[in-house]
Amino acid sequence: AGDRIALTPPMGWNSWNCWGLNVSEEKVKSSANAMIDKRLTDYGWSYINVDDGWQAPARATDGEILPNEKFPDMKALGDELHNEGLRFGIYSSPGAKTCGGYLGSLGHEVQDMATYFKWGVDYLKYDLCSYTDNTAGDTTLFAQQKPYQLMGNELKKYPRDIIYSICQYGIGDVWKWGRQMNGNLWRTTEDITDTWESLYSIGFSQVNNAKYAGPGGWNDPDMLILGMVGWGENLHQTGLTPYEQYTHISLWSLLSAPLLIGCDMSKLDDFTLNLLKNREVIAIDQDELGKQAERVFDNGKFQVWVKPLADGGTGVGIFNLNSKFATYTFNPADLKIKNISSMRDVWNQQAISYNGKSIMFNIPPHGVRLIKLK
Ligand code: GLA
Repeated sequence: AGDRIALTPPMGWNSWNCWGLNVSEEKVKSSANAMIDKRLTDYGWSYINVDDGWQAPARATDGEILPNEKFPDMKALGDELHNEGLRFGIYSSPGAKTCGGYLGSLGHEVQDMATYFKWGVDYLKYDLCSYTDNTAGDTTLFAQQKPYQLMGNELKKYPRDIIYSICQYGIGDVWKWGRQMNGNLWRTTEDITDTWESLYSIGFSQVNNAKYAGPGGWNDPDMLILGMVGWGENLHQTGLTPYEQYTHISLWSLLSAPLLIGCDMSKLDDFTLNLLKNREVIAIDQDELGKQAERVFDNGKFQVWVKPLADGGTGVGIFNLNSKFATYTFNPADLKIKNISSMRDVWNQQAISYNGKSIMFNIPPHGVRLIKLK
């Protein structure tokens, strides 16, 4: 693997938020096909990541990890994804068992990485889960880091760019050391669900970790909760309102977050598809400067987040936390943003006329005005 991969945050799909443990090759392929048919690939979406639930109950006699009957041939799946121009991601745990109770990699790290390589894997999500049984009573930072270091070193041995996703829910301020484990992204919080409360508590809490994000290593506030989700049961349209969905993508883009679609992509409606195909919004997430936004204003009713961009511009998200429409008077100088000659509405891809002083925005409930200043 090159030592400079994930120079911008990874973009793709992961099976978990939609299918949970009821994942199968057929479902993965149907989402992969949808990614192509709906031309999401034109916008940078490329990883197809199989989460928990693919493993057989027992290893082969030589110890090799095997897929279960829902995944007849992992190498063939990897080949097919590559032939379509997509990338293949897989999931394991450093523990004996994954969070879903499937077989983990404990004691088989070297062998498992070799197997993933053989299958064509381009992305590994490594989820702490039952590994904590091994660290019981040991609260040293090293106990947290050790399993990630071990697999991170294995992954580096292979001549393919394999993204390493560290998933241990932010324990021990992982943002301070995830990069040293060769991590390209590290989860900062507990699991997200499709409610405003969850989106709010995860997204708007990403305030003290910005300086650790940058090309090659990103804070991961978890996957997108758009479209048909359900974690394998009662598939339903996301519980977020349309305004909250704009907030979700805007905030994740300002945060330079990995963007992993978590829904049934074969059932993508036009609204959701448009959220995922806005070039100017994605450009904020994928900006090559790789600076994560910082919160510069919070009065409990509104928050303003600011992200410096590679072209000298500034991405700004003004978020209305009220549950009704409300007006915010935006004055860049108050927020120490200087020398502005233009203002652009990013979602609408249109210039906003601006007199150089303050400007009022009427913002929907739990909604956002995402702008770019230059
Ligand atoms: C944990 C992770 C989730 C998902 C499940 C799988 O909860 O945080 O993202 O991978 O495990 O069991």
